[in-house]
Amino acid sequence: MTGHRGTPAAVLRVAATVAVSAARLGARLTPGAILIACAVSFGAASAAALDVPTPYIPSTQQNVDEMLRLADVRPGDVVYDLGSGDGRVVITAAREWGARGVGIEIDPGLVAKSAGQARHAGVADRASFRAQDVFAADIHEATVVTMYLLTSLVERLQPKLLSELRPGTRIVAHDYGFPGWKPDRQVNVSKNFYLYVVPAKVAGKWRMAVALPKGTRDYEVDFEQQYQEIKGGARVAGGFLPAFDARMNGDRIGFVLAEDDMGYRYEGRVSGDAIEGRVRWGYGPKQNETTWRATRVAAGG
Ligand SMILES: C[S@@+](CC[C@H](N)C(=O)[O-])C[C@H]1O[C@@H](n2cnc3c(N)ncnc32)[C@H](O)[C@@H]1O
Repeated sequence: MTGHRGTPAAVLRVAATVAVSAARLGARLTPGAILIACAVSFGAASAAALDVPTPYIPSTQQNVDEMLRLADVRPGDVVYDLGSGDGRVVITAAREWGARGVGIEIDPGLVAKSAGQARHAGVADRASFRAQDVFAADIHEATVVTMYLLTSLVERLQPKLLSELRPGTRIVAHDYGFPGWKPDRQVNVSKNFYLYVVPAKVAGKWRMAVALPKGTRDYEVDFEQQYQEIKGGARVAGGFLPAFDARMNGDRIGFVLAEDDMGYRYEGRVSGDAIEGRVRWGYGPKQNETTWRATRVAAGG
């Protein structure tokens, strides 16, 4: 779908006009509403349909707090805000949540302003800013990524984020999420916020070995994957064991194989082409436990 292509100045002009008109009418518009109004002004049905540059419209301080809360930011985290505006997300992550933060912002004036505000807030040692296009930015060290960008940019960023961020990295999108990627969590607190946890890649064929009481089992396991959603099962002599309750959380995988009237609960950590973990089984809370290992023998699509 192609939309009207607006220059940043034109989009901002529309944003300013919408905000001023709203103020004259005594209405208070949220930044998201202004962005949507810009989209409509450019002749498209929704912001999702547009390929206009993302204008500078800051999140409110409450929005910033919701984003960092949803990401569950901790002192060890490295928070990257993509399109960091005046630096408020990064500065808040450093000042209130004890994290280190990096802002990537295409407008050098906003980068200079952010650096000044970080000094003023006393967090210049933990909050830095780069005047860069997000597509050129090295983001691999991030453990948390935040963004308040229009859908067209979010959509184009998705392959970069999935290929460069480590499994387990939390991404929080304000207002505009990834089309086609179901969020791990979604909250609405004044605005919509979407949490995505970057999943490890498990699609493909795996050879899995586990020493169960009735002897060592060797399974050939297949997984299909759609982001964090997986399905598949184990091929065994004379049949197929579906992987029940199969799920991913970052580099963690879990599933249940039901065999011999018993549910075997597998949990493991994916590291490249290997998975290692523990399997538990038994009736009632008292469970038996042993280790299991799998090696990928063929990559999936
Ligand atoms: C809606 S504002 C959000 C600012 C800030 N993240 C916040 O939440 O307050 C989007 C910001 O992204 C910046 N931006 C747009 N396209 C960009 C790009 N390709 N690379 C880097 N920054 C970009 C804009 O200049 C603007 O400051």
